[in-house]
Amino acid sequence: MGVKEQYRDYVMTGFVKRVEPVVADRGDGALLYDADGTEYVDCFAGISVTNAGHHNTAVLEAAKAQAEKLVHACSYVYYVPSVGALAEKLAQVTPGRLQKTFFGNGGAEAIEGAFRLAKRYSGKREFLAIESSFHGRSFATLSVTGNSGRKKGGGPYMPGVAFVPTPYCYRCFAETTPDKCDLLCARRVAEVARLHLSGDVCAFIAEPVMGEGGIIVPPDGYFKRVKEFLDEEGILFIADEVQSGFGRTGKMFAIEHYGVEPDIMTMAKGIADGWPLSAFIARSEIADAFQVGDHLSTFGGNPVSCAAALANIEFLESGVVEAAARKGADLKARFEALAKTQPLIGEVRGKGLMIGVELIADPKTKAYGTAAAGFTRQYCLEHNVLIGVGGNFGSVLRIQPPLVIDEKQIDKVYDTIEAALAAFAKQQ
Ligand SMILES: Cc1ncc(COP(=O)(O)O)c(C=O)c1O
Repeated sequence: MGVKEQYRDYVMTGFVKRVEPVVADRGDGALLYDADGTEYVDCFAGISVTNAGHHNTAVLEAAKAQAEKLVHACSYVYYVPSVGALAEKLAQVTPGRLQKTFFGNGGAEAIEGAFRLAKRYSGKREFLAIESSFHGRSFATLSVTGNSGRKKGGGPYMPGVAFVPTPYCYRCFAETTPDKCDLLCARRVAEVARLHLSGDVCAFIAEPVMGEGGIIVPPDGYFKRVKEFLDEEGILFIADEVQSGFGRTGKMFAIEHYGVEPDIMTMAKGIADGWPLSAFIARSEIADAFQVGDHLSTFGGNPVSCAAALANIEFLESGVVEAAARKGADLKARFEALAKTQPLIGEVRGKGLMIGVELIADPKTKAYGTAAAGFTRQYCLEHNVLIGVGGNFGSVLRIQPPLVIDEKQIDKVYDTIEAALAAFAKQQ
């Protein structure tokens, strides 16, 4: 029985029809190889995970050395050197006064833990989140996920959650333009908190750049304005950097683009270049709200994953993040130039190598270009480029390759997407 049949018969996944027909066998930098040797430029990086590249030698060597010594000991029962070293490193590379970390296994788990800590610290119970947000597939994280498509069949969800409008300039709910923007979306946070919750708001959770929602980049002053309100009301700000962290946006963390210090920050995906690990970090005063034994994870802070993460961060610090900012800006500029002649492109946005190209069916109505995005994804696959598609209506091309992607590979990505759009336009 081949792996495709094994998936069909034995792997439980609601996603099975959308699994790409690629047997992921081997990776190298920004390249992924099928079992039959077919080479793909990987612009999805396992959903924005392998930022330092597939098969990164420094990360692998660190993981191997740790695995040969110790694979597991429960990092919350014994002192584990790679856990301590990574926690110290995270305190150095995360913004502001963020200092103490709890390690888990996946993004949703980090957010659940962050919520528990926020409740413990504040004594409050309610949450604010953004309408087009995505925070994971556990009960609490789906409760604060605004995208209803992801929530089907799981309700009713947690009470005490209210959603604020998405800071989505291209489809601004206030119908204003960026040059006239008065940050109504940021001001609405206060109104929603006051009108839709009961005065017991514990935290506001937001992705500094929204991934699954379609690479939505909030306007420049958004987080500063929101944070002012949150501070006035004693509401914590949880920055969900699960997807936007670890160099993805051309800075180590996307919230740095906004000059705002979160109270708690969640991380996963790119933290260890593919080794399973997640974390949330908080200022000491907040972190110390957890009493001994309050929170634990059997596998959390796995010694091998932590050793891999440390090597991963050191690798990203060696100029890789700055290079990602440059490569991303160049690629974005090329798509922006293409948008001037290709009417299927509604907007190009993103930071660093977290780029979204929103497709539209009609420039006048901005109708969602879902069919064009699906076509482009398939065309790219057939031409050996793997991309993602996101947005609430599946109309945004997501370009999130390993940050080590080289110029030639970038050219191939751009040329293939350009050709795909031309082919789609031609068949209309
Ligand atoms: C912003 C964000 N938060 C949380 C999650 C959930 O992470 P995980 O799938 O590791 O639970 C994701 C996953 O895509 C995400 O993009």
